[in-house]
Amino acid sequence: MWYPGHVQKAKRQIKENIKKIDAVIIVLDARAPVATVSFELDIFKSKRKLFVLNKSDLSDEGYNEIWKSEISKTFPVFLHSKHTKRAELVDFVSRNVPPDSRVCVVGVPNVGKSTIINKIVGRHKVQTGAQPGITRGVQWVKIENFTLMDSPGILYAEIFVKEISAKLLLVGCLPFEQVPDDIYELAYEIYREASGDVAALHEKLEEFGRKRGLLRKGGVVDFERSKQLFFKELSEGRFGRFTYDREPELFWKVVERSHNI
Ligand code: GTP
Repeated sequence: MWYPGHVQKAKRQIKENIKKIDAVIIVLDARAPVATVSFELDIFKSKRKLFVLNKSDLSDEGYNEIWKSEISKTFPVFLHSKHTKRAELVDFVSRNVPPDSRVCVVGVPNVGKSTIINKIVGRHKVQTGAQPGITRGVQWVKIENFTLMDSPGILYAEIFVKEISAKLLLVGCLPFEQVPDDIYELAYEIYREASGDVAALHEKLEEFGRKRGLLRKGGVVDFERSKQLFFKELSEGRFGRFTYDREPELFWKVVERSHNI
């Protein structure tokens, strides 16, 4: 999922098709709706924008409502989870784009773009095949009153801002094995604040590593493996539902600052 080739191909496809696109579905993680906003959104200046707050089965229910009502002040927004029925999602898109719009799904890595595309398309739908004039492999699938690009647009996040990087780590949008220690430490502090967990990081990894049998010779915990698995499981919601971005005003700052949308 973080292979450069895969990202480059997705970027090329968006660039090549940008003129044909009428509307974009911007997928954010409901646990971090600020950190998962990409600074590249200005690519879609002048396109109609719909937001999906994804993985809302993993975020705090109270914050889900807060975020939904905040974003809906300006944009159509939909809370999606693994329990959402296809018809509700398709209906949300249909209601919020002009008839015959061409729509694409975009977002930072691992936020759930393919899941959204697959759900909209539905397993029973057969892809229409590449249409003449649309280059190199992009397929468009006719849904009700709109047509969906069947491959996602992958956008970059602002990983050089530490707090953003830490939140991306918490929601599984960064490759666990490549993240520096200071980001892990910051992510753990953000998790502690959101969850009320009182254990220090070292204590936590010791306990977790033992529980999972992540031991080295001599029975000592392998902290590196313990750390990566702990954060992976945390990002998959194994320890509860948490929302890490809790200041709705910040959303407008990141959206308005660089994107002019
Ligand atoms: P890239 O192609 O790597 O950029 O990923 P993507 O944005 O297409 O994400 P994908 O749809 O592959 O989903 C990433 C992971 O999140 C997968 O393990 C999905 O099963 C999981 N996922 C997606 N949506 C949801 C959701 O609503 N709830 C939960 N719990 N998991 C989800």
